Amino acid sequence: MNVAGEVAVITGGASGIGRASALAFARSGADVVLADIRTDRLARTADEVRALGRRVLALECDVSKAEDVAYLAEAAETQLGPVGILMNNAGVVLRGALEEISLEDWRWCFGINVFGVVHGIHAFLPRMVERGHGWIVNTGSMAGLVALTGEGAPYISSKFAVVGLTEALALYCRPFGIGVSLLCPGGVRTNLAETGRSIGMTPQREIAETRVAQAVQGGTEAEPEHIGELVLNAVQNERFLVLQDAFSRDLVRRHADLNEFMAWRFSTSTEQP
Ligand SMILES: NC(=O)c1ccc[n+]([C@@H]2O[C@H](COP(=O)([O-])OP(=O)(O)OC[C@H]3O[C@@H](n4cnc5c(N)ncnc54)[C@H](O)[C@@H]3O)[C@@H](O)[C@H]2O)c1
Repeated sequence: MNVAGEVAVITGGASGIGRASALAFARSGADVVLADIRTDRLARTADEVRALGRRVLALECDVSKAEDVAYLAEAAETQLGPVGILMNNAGVVLRGALEEISLEDWRWCFGINVFGVVHGIHAFLPRMVERGHGWIVNTGSMAGLVALTGEGAPYISSKFAVVGLTEALALYCRPFGIGVSLLCPGGVRTNLAETGRSIGMTPQREIAETRVAQAVQGGTEAEPEHIGELVLNAVQNERFLVLQDAFSRDLVRRHADLNEFMAWRFSTSTEQP
């Protein structure tokens, strides 16, 4: 897809991966709609897009609210024109002691990570289908392909839902001429920890999680700009699965044999909570 001249809507677009993707699209000639709950960062990122010479609309929008996302679609198309690219990217982390996490917290996590994506599809897909044109990028996670920590269960299960939804969406959209990409980053240096909720995490649990992260990422975190370029590349070259490095690819392959994977994973977790 040639992104020049397209309108790209990015949820969670004020910060991190969303911001970097917005700037990558803008550099390639797309106009950008940024949707986020953080109005201060929205304004800053909007200025950065404007400085690249592209039109920008920055909207306060909570993706867990269907009416906010419906308004986003209406405002984007009224003010900037038909939306060709939608990136359902807003997300939050919920992790901790499973016996202590409230149902309200579970609903908060799924409301943003899963229903945020559903709301995006609901509001924008009919418009794309009508035009027979469009590209949707959903941000999953390596945590949506491979479960590495027990404490991450709420985040992991919400991202597994995004992965399944996105695979099915790609199959559904193909006959309409609409493309779909699934972005599954590993560790990326962003502000994600700021919005995250950790319930009953003991120091031992933190240490165990860090060890696992180091084991699977080789101790490195990617910069958001690298991920923004990967997203742009996936849309331009019509790629489905976007992984950030060889570690991720290897992990996904290992996970394909679940029995072997679980034996390996149990053998690496001797710590008690
Ligand atoms: N950073 C990583 O290591 C990593 C790894 C895998 C997947 N991801 C995923 O990448 C996506 C982007 O996260 P990031 O790492 O750039 O973090 P980030 O916190 O820098 O950016 C996420 C943005 O989403 C916004 N947001 C949160 N709740 C929202 C809501 N209800 N409605 C609208 N916007 C909302 C935040 O204000 C923030 O600006 C998330 O879906 C995250 O799960 C991140």
